[in-house]
Amino acid sequence: MGKNFYITTPIYYPSGKPHMGHAYSSIIADIFARFKRLEGYDVLFLTGTDEHGLKIQREAEKNKKDPKIFCDELSEKFKDLTKILNLSNDDFIRTTEKRHYKSVEEIWNRLVKSGDIYLDKYSGWYSVSDEAYYDEDEIEEVKGKKVSKVSGSPVDWVEEESYFFKLSSWSEKLLKYYKDNKNFILPSSRKNEVINFVEKGLKDLSVSRTSFSWGIPVPKNKKHVIYVWLDALTNYISALNFPDINDKNYKKYWPANIHIIGKDILRFHAIYWPAFLLAAKLPLPERIFGHGWILSEDKKMSKSLGNILDPIEIIKTYGIDQLRYYLVKEVSLGNDGSISLQNLKNCINNDLANNYGNLCQRVFSFIKKNCSNKIPKIKKLSVSDNKLLDELKNNIPRLIELMNKQELNEFIKTVVGYSFDSNKYFNDSEPWSVKKKDPERMRTIIFTICEQIKNISILLNSIIPISTNKVLEAMNVKKENRSINQINSLECFDHDKELKELDILFNKIENDN
Ligand code: ME8
Ligand code: MG
Repeated sequence: MGKNFYITTPIYYPSGKPHMGHAYSSIIADIFARFKRLEGYDVLFLTGTDEHGLKIQREAEKNKKDPKIFCDELSEKFKDLTKILNLSNDDFIRTTEKRHYKSVEEIWNRLVKSGDIYLDKYSGWYSVSDEAYYDEDEIEEVKGKKVSKVSGSPVDWVEEESYFFKLSSWSEKLLKYYKDNKNFILPSSRKNEVINFVEKGLKDLSVSRTSFSWGIPVPKNKKHVIYVWLDALTNYISALNFPDINDKNYKKYWPANIHIIGKDILRFHAIYWPAFLLAAKLPLPERIFGHGWILSEDKKMSKSLGNILDPIEIIKTYGIDQLRYYLVKEVSLGNDGSISLQNLKNCINNDLANNYGNLCQRVFSFIKKNCSNKIPKIKKLSVSDNKLLDELKNNIPRLIELMNKQELNEFIKTVVGYSFDSNKYFNDSEPWSVKKKDPERMRTIIFTICEQIKNISILLNSIIPISTNKVLEAMNVKKENRSINQINSLECFDHDKELKELDILFNKIENDN
């Protein structure tokens, strides 16, 4: 078995500009993708846009644009965002691409062949904004309007001819799958939610629509377009060149290791998607991770609430590593979390500028003044030097495990702790006061702190790649020595080479009010 790893984000509706919620999911997925690469895995990281369905058709009509042209323009904004967020995605899929049509048609045909599809009539509630069907008991009336209790979105009554997928017949198999695969749905609070829903009994699912045309036509019945969620979920295998199951990417990367999603779309990923795959006789993904909401002033950030913090504006003002760090430090992955400009500024100052940034800067300038700008070669470490270094090194297996369980906050807390301890070590060991009477001791301190800066930089590399690469670059640490597995091997410094200039990593933010 090769060390392959396949990770995805949701494919976003290009119905408006990308916002902080989209940025959040993508940044998280990027952090895990980068971390797996540092662990030596061959990673495929996919993101993209979900372009069919009534929601998009209506949005295009509102803008007086052909839906394809409308999607071309907005999808480009999401592609731009991958650059702005410094994502390391290997592919970007659009559901209007030919490769995706082929894949969705094959899924459909497989479901027909297995006897899981039948023609009937749908009558019930539908939310265009969620592209979801809701049961009567999931609807309530708010200010004279019918809305979904689940999402709060308005619903319309729909009656039309529709193909159905026999979802009801998969309940038992799904429940068994959840039971046998304890970490299929994470965090575990989410899993219970899903199990309760399935245990209540699943109804067959309407998987085609006839009242609009913006979608992939049902093979052999062009009056129908395929339900946008059956269409969208299939993106995860379209990108691997399904239906060609002998394709090297499909063989290498399917089943996916993890789909990163927000909790709003858990039902689709943890119930519908595995049921479709079971019926199509395809392997199921290993894990669905449903993160919580980014809130702004304690409300879900959304276009309709008008409380959006624009990621692009924030990045322009404060920097991308700063935003990446803040989002994952501040919001506990899996739970909802509020963000604000004030907290962003505090976090940049306390964690980045005063802690990791300050550590790097003061050590670099000390080396320039006192060590001919080179990392000293040393003879022997003292007990306190070893104590500092060993604590981090001995903890590497645990840190890797934390990342593999998506316990990102615990990971960051631990690594930031090392950075804090390193500043303290530097203060306490006072290299400036021993440089005259014991230059060997001074060199040992400087070597130790450099080793520690290198290790912390590697650990933080997936989270703040630009700044940590600057540091590693300035220390002349070669690319092949920047892997998590290399942390335990000392001696990757070139002691004859001068350090490169290190610009200020994180500017401190002045409070203007
Ligand atoms: O649902 N906080 O697309 P979408 C955190 N096309 N994450 C948020 C968020 C918030 N306030 N708002 C959005 C769709 N997200 C479908 C997906 S996948 C086969 C199809 C993130 O544009 C979060 O990941 O509505 C959420 O699940 C996703 O954006 C929804 O994006
Ligand atoms: Mg949505």
